[in-house]
Amino acid sequence: MKESINWGIIGLGKIAQKFVSDLALVDGSKLQAVGSRGLDKARDFATKNRAKEAYGSYEELVQDSKIDVVYIATPHVYHAELTHLCLDHGKSVLCEKPFAMNIDEVRGMIEKAKNKNLFLMEALWTRFIPATEKLLELIGKGTIGELRSIHADFGFKAEYDPTKRLFNKSLGGGALLDIGIYPLYMAQLILGSPDSVNANAHFGATGVDHSLGILLGYENDKQAVLHATLSSTTQTAAWIHGSEGSIYMHPRFHHCARLSVYKEHQEIESFEIPYIGSGYYHEIEAVNHSLYEGQIQNPKMSWDDSLKLIELLDRVRDQVGLHYG
Ligand SMILES: NC(=O)c1ccc[n+]([C@@H]2O[C@H](COP(=O)([O-])OP(=O)(O)OC[C@H]3O[C@@H](n4cnc5c(N)ncnc54)[C@H](OP(=O)(O)O)[C@@H]3O)[C@@H](O)[C@H]2O)c1
Repeated sequence: MKESINWGIIGLGKIAQKFVSDLALVDGSKLQAVGSRGLDKARDFATKNRAKEAYGSYEELVQDSKIDVVYIATPHVYHAELTHLCLDHGKSVLCEKPFAMNIDEVRGMIEKAKNKNLFLMEALWTRFIPATEKLLELIGKGTIGELRSIHADFGFKAEYDPTKRLFNKSLGGGALLDIGIYPLYMAQLILGSPDSVNANAHFGATGVDHSLGILLGYENDKQAVLHATLSSTTQTAAWIHGSEGSIYMHPRFHHCARLSVYKEHQEIESFEIPYIGSGYYHEIEAVNHSLYEGQIQNPKMSWDDSLKLIELLDRVRDQVGLHYG
């Protein structure tokens, strides 16, 4: 068995810095190299985070023969192209969410990973957070009876800067792809793919969505009521309601550390379930495990899960008329 899994990172922005701090906590992981569009930036990041190599382009990084898996942490619009670049150079890939800009891009990435027999996963870290595992266990053993609905929101007041990723349409900006993906993912995880999608969005001056309300309908009287916004800080919690009670995922639900079970408005039980580091630890461990096992997809965040998620994002975009060039 290989002594360690050697990681490379592409795109040295905010999330790359958080990720790399957690990578240092995971046994059997090594930071082999980092790649940036600028060599000075790559060198600074490498020194600070003890990467063995620093490259001034993504194309150079993928040629490093020591790298097993590349973490892609660029704006969404480059996810598909860079995944292909990595797979074409024999590297496995963990790519940030959203996996790509639409279902056609995601299908192409999966097809390539399948043909090359290489591991590929969307970095939907929420799936690997211990409290999410506990939630699924509680639901599975019937703690709240038959599932009925999920209410989830994700909102923060973002500083308005039309050039920055969040508000820049050419970089795939907007609330849905950045944060709306989390309530949607939670609905998909708990209730599956919906029969109907209704959504309403407010667009800002740069043409990206600032706020969205989404209503998903399922057969047998099930619903998801979801909200995402860049215009105000909202609770960012999730309620999962069943015929016999409810589970509250405390803020922020996408990396929750506490769950409460309610019956008839009374909290009857609660669980403290800490995550390690900033929470990215768990997805990194899952990727390492898959690579050691020779898996090309992880069963907890499979290619099918990513296809269903991007299909849902595409359906919401169709509803509200959110188109990227
Ligand atoms: N899982 C999570 O919790 C989480 C949290 C935040 C963001 N994300 C996801 O991670 C991705 C990156 O988000 P972020 O907040 O880290 O973004 P960011 O701070 O803007 O960093 C993105 C990095 O991508 C690279 N890049 C390549 N082409 C670029 C371009 N044309 N313009 C700007 N940057 C470019 C840059 O790195 P170099 O200059 O080094 O090349 C930049 O530093 C997004 O897809 C986002 O959805 C995930």
